[in-house]
Amino acid sequence: MFAEVREAVSKLINLSDLRHISFSHFESDECGSLNEWLAVAPQAGVVCSQVGALVSVNDFIGREARALADGEVFATGSYRFRYCQTPHLPHGWDAGVLFEETQKTLLCSDLFHQTGDVEPLTESDVVARSHQAMLNYQAGILADYVPYTPLTSKNLRKLAELKPKTLAIMHGSSFRGDCARALAELEQAFKQVFGREPAAK
Ligand SMILES: [Fe+2]
Ligand SMILES: [Fe+2]
Repeated sequence: MFAEVREAVSKLINLSDLRHISFSHFESDECGSLNEWLAVAPQAGVVCSQVGALVSVNDFIGREARALADGEVFATGSYRFRYCQTPHLPHGWDAGVLFEETQKTLLCSDLFHQTGDVEPLTESDVVARSHQAMLNYQAGILADYVPYTPLTSKNLRKLAELKPKTLAIMHGSSFRGDCARALAELEQAFKQVFGREPAAK
């Protein structure tokens, strides 16, 4: 999808002005085109978790990424991004999300994943949609999308405490409304779908 995404981003910003490229975890749909991006945006640096930089990213890009510690903030001029380390949420040892503090937007990665061709932004219930998508995935090869561990609730509660105003959702409609409540409801949906004993085969 690199060509299509590059085309879309170039309508928002001149690619040679792009300074920061970041993502939640090392996975193809998050950062598979990272080297192509670095080739078209020579001013840009990569921002990721410390675990991500050490385990995958530095080797993948052949240079040092900017590795953020939990709670570390970086500013881009108008915006301030706080790095929230969330190991294994949505998945991956290196996982984390960024919270943009001036607009209170949480960049959610795979959290609240919805399927279908949906509107860019909604104020209606995204958790029910996401819960249904998880149930559908459980029936196929994409089952067990999110590991449910003792860290799951801790990570989600940490994000809810930020009291975001908008959830910027990677797969599906973004959400504006009571985001702390949506995160609490997502925890319950994860518990129901991923927190039960696996059926014997
Ligand atoms: Fe993912
Ligand atoms: Fe994804």
